[in-house]
Amino acid sequence: MGELSGTSRVASAPGRVTLLGEHVDHQGGTALPLAIHMRTTVEYTPGGDWAISSEGHEAGGPWTRHVEGVIELLSEQGIAPKPGKLEVRSTIPEGAGLASSAALQVAVAGALSDLPPWELALLCQRAENERIGVPCGLLDQATSACAIQGNVMVLDCGAPGFFHLPLPPCELYFFPSGIERSLADTPYAERLEEARDPASLAARHVASESMRVEDGVRLLEAGDLAGFGQLMYASHASLRDNYRCSLPELDNIVEGLAAVTGVLGARLVGAGWGGGVLVLVEPGEQLDAGVRLLTDDGLYRLE
Ligand code: GLA
Repeated sequence: MGELSGTSRVASAPGRVTLLGEHVDHQGGTALPLAIHMRTTVEYTPGGDWAISSEGHEAGGPWTRHVEGVIELLSEQGIAPKPGKLEVRSTIPEGAGLASSAALQVAVAGALSDLPPWELALLCQRAENERIGVPCGLLDQATSACAIQGNVMVLDCGAPGFFHLPLPPCELYFFPSGIERSLADTPYAERLEEARDPASLAARHVASESMRVEDGVRLLEAGDLAGFGQLMYASHASLRDNYRCSLPELDNIVEGLAAVTGVLGARLVGAGWGGGVLVLVEPGEQLDAGVRLLTDDGLYRLE
């Protein structure tokens, strides 16, 4: 994954969106994530003491724990990297539900080791679980390490394993709600515990979302984007009512979008409690200026 450039090694890893299959990874379910064009790049130059920096971020800020956690786990696995300079650059908005932390971890692990992508994903998930204290599933790290752009990853977190499915022609947009959050400050762990009780509302979400994923795969294979879009709306409603991880701001964006010509589906993306909305649009259609007014934070066309 890492590539040599002079005396340095450079690795980069993408953020992700989830087309369907939100909050099922930690229950051993199957998710349908997609790598996006926004990426994090890490340049590693061995020599001297560790010097970890990131454009626009305070040195030693909480973000460095993600980097240190990966270095610690690599060392525990007997692949201790030589100390040196790590320079991070990223185009992934943070706290937006686009898995910027996983991309940072995967890019660091890729720059510091020759581990194959699946091993990178497992190590980075462990870093998040054990060093950051968030009991996340494999979704973010596996997508960042293993996805192929332009393909949907069918990621079975139970087996675990994955295969790729070509994404039919369509347009995808991301609407930030402007509400940033760090996963560690959300009820992520609490809700995940609730979902283990089969009688709970959270478990109802997991069961229905898993059925939507099964249907979604069939619809993608058949190129039925309109049908797939309906599943996205249903997924959002279940995340709102059963998993209870939406916010009125996210619900308003989804509702507003549902009335726009060309929009086939929309749902909150990532863990929720902030972040943004993924929008599926008919191929060749563009979201117009009126739609942009739904958010102050700009609109991202995903490539
Ligand atoms: C976060 C976690 C993932 C997953 C999603 C919700 O991104 O890191 O493991 O649980 O939330 O699908």
